[in-house]
Amino acid sequence: MARSEDSGPDDRLGFHSLSTETTVALPVEGSLPEWLSGSLVRNGPGSFSVGDGSVDHWFDGLAMLTRFTFDDGVRYSNRFLRTDAYEAARAGRFDGGFATGESTLRERLWNAFRGDPYDNTNIILERIGDEYLALTESPRWVRVDPTSLETLGHRRYDGPAPSGDLACAHLRYDPDRDLHVNVETEFGRPSYYHVYAMRSPERRKLLASVPTDRPSYMHSFALTPDYVVLTAFPFDVNPLAFFKPGRQGPFVENFRWRPDAGTTVYVINRHGGGVVGEATAPPVFGFHHVNAYQTDGDVVFDLETLPDADAVDSLDLAALRAGQLDAVAGRLDRYRVTDPAGEPTVERTARFATGTGLPTVSPATRLHEHRYVYAQGTDTPVTRWPRAVRKVDTVTGRVTEWSDDTPVSEPIFVPRSGSARPTDDERAHSADDGVVLTVTLDHEAGRSTLVVLDGETLTERARAPLPHALPFDFHGRFFPELVP
Ligand SMILES: [Fe+2]
Repeated sequence: MARSEDSGPDDRLGFHSLSTETTVALPVEGSLPEWLSGSLVRNGPGSFSVGDGSVDHWFDGLAMLTRFTFDDGVRYSNRFLRTDAYEAARAGRFDGGFATGESTLRERLWNAFRGDPYDNTNIILERIGDEYLALTESPRWVRVDPTSLETLGHRRYDGPAPSGDLACAHLRYDPDRDLHVNVETEFGRPSYYHVYAMRSPERRKLLASVPTDRPSYMHSFALTPDYVVLTAFPFDVNPLAFFKPGRQGPFVENFRWRPDAGTTVYVINRHGGGVVGEATAPPVFGFHHVNAYQTDGDVVFDLETLPDADAVDSLDLAALRAGQLDAVAGRLDRYRVTDPAGEPTVERTARFATGTGLPTVSPATRLHEHRYVYAQGTDTPVTRWPRAVRKVDTVTGRVTEWSDDTPVSEPIFVPRSGSARPTDDERAHSADDGVVLTVTLDHEAGRSTLVVLDGETLTERARAPLPHALPFDFHGRFFPELVP
């Protein structure tokens, strides 16, 4: 495949607006593993303009799901969520809703604070209980039929447990207890991080309400068998400013990067007692915790960090289309919290410092010690969308890479065993026995391609070209139970 020295312009196709919806069997080159069965469902912004209306922030594109079903071949479909945001866009109010004039995440947070029931849930699809829910950072979720990708309606918790104005987009699943844990931030005096567990969207059990005067922006957190760990980055807000009459404007400006405050690490006991440990770590910013576990009494978690919160202001489409991509290149760090329920101390060491994006682990290692992290691989310095899939061995530091010099999506590892609850022996001996799924974007051919890599070597096993080009998306989940 021809290599291109172009940077930004080649990436523009990744930020175009798709209007078609299709269901089609894909031609497959190479060979798919016989054991591979189930569906990868990805979520992301599929359209940035409808009619005369358009948005200018990557996060504000209309939510579109893509589904790749493996069963003696690959069947592909894509469908936009029929959300209030979608219907408003179709009615000519695409630039009249949540995204009006909002070009930064900072302003989006302000809108969440105002209580907009934002439902453009374009970050990920999760299964909670028996329901498949499209999520964003709003506590209002969108129910989806995972087979047809049809939108079924909304879901919002209205039970007795406290809830918040913002939610982490990345809730965490505990396979041993079959429940999800999430964090919602309620602005007020004081504000709270409400940490809760749920078996289904209606059944929520409060684990802790952590008061704070300056709530931080949190996209994800860490979960272990006994603890929830929050990393409150020093990108925070003083909500009291907003409550003062006539002070709506300054509220936005008060959401700011304050590195002198450091990163506050809260350790919450999942079995009661609220915050049992608190420590201050060096100031960083980050979107994605990768995985967490306990070992020798310590809590260990991997986190993709950024040096500051510039990403909050820089993910607008004009910058991304021009190749200004510093915000998507992170550093994979390992945090070790010693004496987590007493006087915790936090140690941070780099696992890979030269460019990762959207890091993931095998679902079989959730809440257990993991060895391998898969991620997009970026150039250094970053001038274009990530063109590589990287596998980082966090024990040896060895990095394996695959690239055909086209942009790649977040890589998703699918273990061969397919077991939701593998034994320790299976985890230890088959940690990378499986495949990695990624979606590339071939600018010259004008289409995307599903690529299947070997989980151990990252050699290419198969590829399946799509009938169209997909805009760059956010996150995917592999659902073994979703077969035709
Ligand atoms: Fe995310």
